[in-house]
Amino acid sequence: EDPRINGIRTKIRVVPNFPKPGIMFQDITTLLLEPKAFKDTIDLFVERYKGKNISVVAGIEARGFIFGPPIALAIGAKFVPLRKPKKLPGEVMHEEYVLEYGRDCIEMHVGAVKAGERALVVDDLIATGGTLSAAINLLERAGAEVVECACVIELPELKGRERLSGKSLYILVEYRHG
Ligand code: PRP
Ligand code: MG
Repeated sequence: EDPRINGIRTKIRVVPNFPKPGIMFQDITTLLLEPKAFKDTIDLFVERYKGKNISVVAGIEARGFIFGPPIALAIGAKFVPLRKPKKLPGEVMHEEYVLEYGRDCIEMHVGAVKAGERALVVDDLIATGGTLSAAINLLERAGAEVVECACVIELPELKGRERLSGKSLYILVEYRHG
């Protein structure tokens, strides 16, 4: 393991029973308060993706908007925001996904991504994988090639990886309940 990863892990705060009883919330705001650990986080992704001919970094609202843009700038890619419904002003494609209770949706501007572009999807965390799988679907519907999904944190017990239709997932930190 890269020696920087433990520093990153220790800066993520675990908040029990937020937002609901029984949930151990992974709070990345404490990581953002530490410039060294935040920079290490971005650097690890940039080292992995630079020179890979990726022209699109797609970040998922809201926390994917924190990690996606610095990666995009550093690798010379454009940044495409995947937003919660009714936030984007132009023509959109939308993709629904299933939550623990109910459904949600993310949207992308038509024309933001061209067919054949190589895309990286960025978010802070994968839990059930519903959000990332919706992001993959949006990009593929636009004709992009999803090279990989990248998250800071994975909750492996929720098996979200299995919902990513065979796409590769790169993470820095695993968090297990047990
Ligand atoms: C959280 C997290 C991921 C998603 C992961 O976002 O930031 O985007 O849930 O869950 P999943 O793998 O089960 O889909 P959330 O929608 O809670 O809010 P935020 O990013 O807007 O804070
Ligand atoms: Mg999110």
